[in-house]
Amino acid sequence: MAVGILLVGGFGTRLKPLTSETPKPMLPVAGLPVTEHQLLAAKRAGIHTLVLATSYLSEVFTPYFGDGSKWGIKILYAVEKEPLGTGGAIRNAAELLDLESLGDEPIVIFNGDVLSRHSIAEQIKFHQAKAADATLHLIEVDDARAFGCVPTDSDGRVTAFLEKMDNPITNSINAGCYVFHPSVIDQIPLSEVVSIERQTFPALVGGGGLLFGYKEQAYWLDVGTPAALFKGSRDLIDGDFHAMPGCTIDPTARIIGKSSIGRNVKIGSGVLIDDCIIGDDVVIGDGVSLSHCFILHKTLITAGVEKSRHYLSTAISEPINLP
Ligand code: GDD
Ligand code: MG
Repeated sequence: MAVGILLVGGFGTRLKPLTSETPKPMLPVAGLPVTEHQLLAAKRAGIHTLVLATSYLSEVFTPYFGDGSKWGIKILYAVEKEPLGTGGAIRNAAELLDLESLGDEPIVIFNGDVLSRHSIAEQIKFHQAKAADATLHLIEVDDARAFGCVPTDSDGRVTAFLEKMDNPITNSINAGCYVFHPSVIDQIPLSEVVSIERQTFPALVGGGGLLFGYKEQAYWLDVGTPAALFKGSRDLIDGDFHAMPGCTIDPTARIIGKSSIGRNVKIGSGVLIDDCIIGDDVVIGDGVSLSHCFILHKTLITAGVEKSRHYLSTAISEPINLP
């Protein structure tokens, strides 16, 4: 048993304008918001209570996830008026958990933009076997510059935490899933802007804290850029495409390239959809051709429109080029 905190309050700057109306973790990947994929993984690992640490566009999460009963998990919402940074967000969210009554029950923290198939349950077991203060999931990447660089000793103990280095000293990076002993929360000041990566972790390592790296080289992706978002969606789809329930698809429409179609989407005759992510309640008129496009919820694409590498949404009058 464990409790969790999901960090979903970032601005999603590298995904603008996709994140102008929808926070990054609520963007659909293979039909479901990134957050829902993470919630399902958390539930499988025995997490019974999850606090969503929200800030930017916080109001989008609550109507979708409610109290979590639909998923059999208790969901609470912590809202930061101004973003408190990753550490400040964790501290703020932990205020909703009764730490006294948790005892030694671990707290699992998730970056809200990561799709990972590593075993959270094994990470928790490893953490408990080491009696660690914190255990970080680590993976190896070819280019570590965009990540937290995390060297460990032969016993797996973290020897430094170096966020986004120009010349990384190891390819072992922070994969954005931490197991904390509840006492670690006290090390983070309340109501202050704190970076867990740049402040808390280096301070804990420097102060002799027991931080361990849990290394599991499972499927892993940070969906922080448009290219990664499309890749994440494609990776989850077997076959040509995936459609959520309630769709009406004309038999003459061709849907290929591991496209993802949301709920209650209507697709007209002669339509071609290739490598697209399409949200819920979208209507696509006859003869439309879309290639590598992101269509947000509730958008109407009028008959005959042809678009490639574009972002389309009801809230914008003109389609915007995707980088
Ligand atoms: N609530 C809240 N408040 N959430 C925040 C805030 C905040 O002020 N700032 C960031 N977040 C959330 C983001 O929404 C995201 O889910 C997560 O924290 C990480 O932020 P990113 O902005 O995506 O960070 P990054 O990808 O550059 O780097 C982080 O992730 C890498 C792995 O993907 C770091 O943790 C790196 O060390 C790590 O390697
Ligand atoms: Mg990220």
